[in-house]
Amino acid sequence: MTTQIFYLKGSSEDEVAIQRAAHVIRKGGIVVFPTETVYGLGASAFDEEAVLKIFRAKGRPADNPLIVHIASLDQLYEVISHLPVEEETLRKLANWLWPGPITFILPRSQKVPAMVSGGLSTVGVRMPAHPVAQRLIELSGVPLAAPSANLSGRPSPTRESHVLEDMSGRADVILLAGRTPLGVESTVIDLTTSPPRLLRPGPVDPVRLQELLGMEIEINDAARGLITQERPVSPGMKYRHYAPSKSLILIEGTEEFVLTVMREFIEIHPSAVICSVQTARALGYEDHVLVWGEREDLFSAAKNLFELLRQAEKLPVDVIIAEGVNEKGIGLAVMNRLRRAASEVIKRTSL
Ligand code: TXA
Ligand code: MG
Repeated sequence: MTTQIFYLKGSSEDEVAIQRAAHVIRKGGIVVFPTETVYGLGASAFDEEAVLKIFRAKGRPADNPLIVHIASLDQLYEVISHLPVEEETLRKLANWLWPGPITFILPRSQKVPAMVSGGLSTVGVRMPAHPVAQRLIELSGVPLAAPSANLSGRPSPTRESHVLEDMSGRADVILLAGRTPLGVESTVIDLTTSPPRLLRPGPVDPVRLQELLGMEIEINDAARGLITQERPVSPGMKYRHYAPSKSLILIEGTEEFVLTVMREFIEIHPSAVICSVQTARALGYEDHVLVWGEREDLFSAAKNLFELLRQAEKLPVDVIIAEGVNEKGIGLAVMNRLRRAASEVIKRTSL
């Protein structure tokens, strides 16, 4: 397949490229586009054949559902059958959090083919905040079913080079607009259960969600990335989302504990280290250290994580060692992704 690639510059010329992409969507094609979280691979959510092309292009299992992206609240009512919560509650959530990095699981309307949701009776819906994503949905005139634009089993793409690596020759059109600002996928919350259940932590802090909902939400071990659910509520959780080609060892604990374990590994194996500035400095290991930023800057950790994992895999090392971060706010999303990618977690629970 030949792929048409457009580099968007934030100027008026972008419109022509986005129009071209929208035309391709209307004809049943598939298009890579930037969002504020990660790049997505989209097709018309109402076109079953086009949606099938997405599963094929990614090599994605058919039972792992896609998120439907909308540009207006009117489109929300096209893709859901009814509201499982008070309309007032949903309006409040949408007013405060959309457009933005959060996906709501709601009952699916008949208009959305079951294939989009991997056969489930629900559908994940998100209104992205990126101007290119919004314009593409508007010009296409339909909601876009879109997973992250990586090959299945690879980290989600946050840079142009990642998209080109994974999707050249697989998508009809690729729209490139630099790095994605947040770098980690949207928060996914199921509103069809009582209490609402966090299925995937992301940039929206669960504490903020609880405030807006006025109730506790369920955050179980699967959401924290501690276990893989046997009968998953969110099919995506049963797959080891991303399994690096080299062993990834995650170390959780005090600074001293992390440094001690890292030193032991470095001595025995050629290692790549993914860590904070502070740890890099204290470790004094120059060879293959990949730094995300200050330890408490959890947004930097999220923004850089997938890129550092892709870099680490390419280094001439046997092992990748990563430092854990604080589980608060977006840190919970970072830990969920790291724990699910890790082949081993080394943790000090008490002194
Ligand atoms: O930020 C994002 O969410 C990005 C951008 C492109 O919007 N998209 C993304 O899509 O990460 P994907 O397909 O890589 O991840 C979707 C996740 C999966 O874990 C899937 O299982 C879950 O959302 N999901 C989608 N629809 C669902 C549903 N109806 N019920 C339960 N989980 C659902
Ligand atoms: Mg994905």
